[in-house]
Amino acid sequence: MTYGTTPSPRHGFKLDLGDDALNARLNSGLEAVEDLLMAELSRGEKFLTDKVTHLAEAGGKRFRPMMALLCSEFGPDPRAENVIRGATVTEMVHLATLYHDDVMDEAERRRGVESANARWTNTVAILAGDILFAHASRLMSRMDLDTVAHFADTFEELVTGQMRETVGAEGSDPVEHYLKVIDEKTGVLIASAAYLGARHSGASDEVVQRCARIGDAVGMVFQIVDDIIDIFSDPDQSGKTPGTDLREGVFTLPVLYALEEDSPAGEALRGLLTGPLTDDTDVDRALDLLSQTRGRERALETARGYLATVERELDALPDIPAREALRTMTRLTVDRVG
Ligand code: IPE
Ligand code: IPE
Ligand code: MG
Ligand code: MG
Repeated sequence: MTYGTTPSPRHGFKLDLGDDALNARLNSGLEAVEDLLMAELSRGEKFLTDKVTHLAEAGGKRFRPMMALLCSEFGPDPRAENVIRGATVTEMVHLATLYHDDVMDEAERRRGVESANARWTNTVAILAGDILFAHASRLMSRMDLDTVAHFADTFEELVTGQMRETVGAEGSDPVEHYLKVIDEKTGVLIASAAYLGARHSGASDEVVQRCARIGDAVGMVFQIVDDIIDIFSDPDQSGKTPGTDLREGVFTLPVLYALEEDSPAGEALRGLLTGPLTDDTDVDRALDLLSQTRGRERALETARGYLATVERELDALPDIPAREALRTMTRLTVDRVG
């Protein structure tokens, strides 16, 4: 299985998770999600839909739908219509948060193309994100009340995480603050994808809860890795501009660890990183200093801790091909950093 930046079923992305029957079910599930997603995103007038389909068409890994579909394998009815709807809802909400996140982060690139705020304006990007929530709500109204209630909690936590990041640690331990933020802004939605997939396929409550815990820990790994990539990898790989978090004054895990370091590079970083970096030379200097610290290594160690949680929870699930596929997918998430 390859795991680049922009593959998607619309771009001929074919999964290989080591089991032919599972591959076939997963690929047809992803196609069904894609069809539903594009059909819903194409609702409304052209001046709206061209903006709303912009990021979906640009690519994306469809990680959350994949999580939902894999977890649906643990129930008796993995192809239930509500599994496809649930998987689609999570991608829609994810997309909405990307539109809004790029406004907040003043990001210029997303999924290898111009972000909506850069291509049009902040206003357009905010409205495009808003309509995605409308589409997601409509789909959920065709599911059941538990899903609506579940998603209300998911939205709330997600926004709380983005707000917690925005207000900053305010005197609390910065690493704890960071871990709380990423749990809320990323872990919760991936947990939700796992929950909805398992639940709507008819899996037992115990399995549903376990899938949710796995999704959450996978989300932690995923976001830590993403934050490492933001600093240490080239834009061709990430589809985003490196150092975006530094420019915004958002200090992610590798940076927080580097700032703790008792070394010349750590000392220099403490002098440099006192707020947002506006100057390109400062960003380059910070990136260079960061590479001289153990920030990357320690952040990876933390990610591996969550990976161990995932492995432990997976071991307690029934031994079916989807379980090993989830294991592979999680390990590949860490391998993205190279
Ligand atoms: C990006 O998520 C935002 C994070 C939570 C790190 P993805 O890495 O899943 O983005 P796409 O969907 O593949 O573009
Ligand atoms: C990702 O935020 C989480 C959400 C969009 C809710 P980031 O700002 O860390 O993600 P990237 O790096 O822009 O994808
Ligand atoms: Mg961002
Ligand atoms: Mg952000």
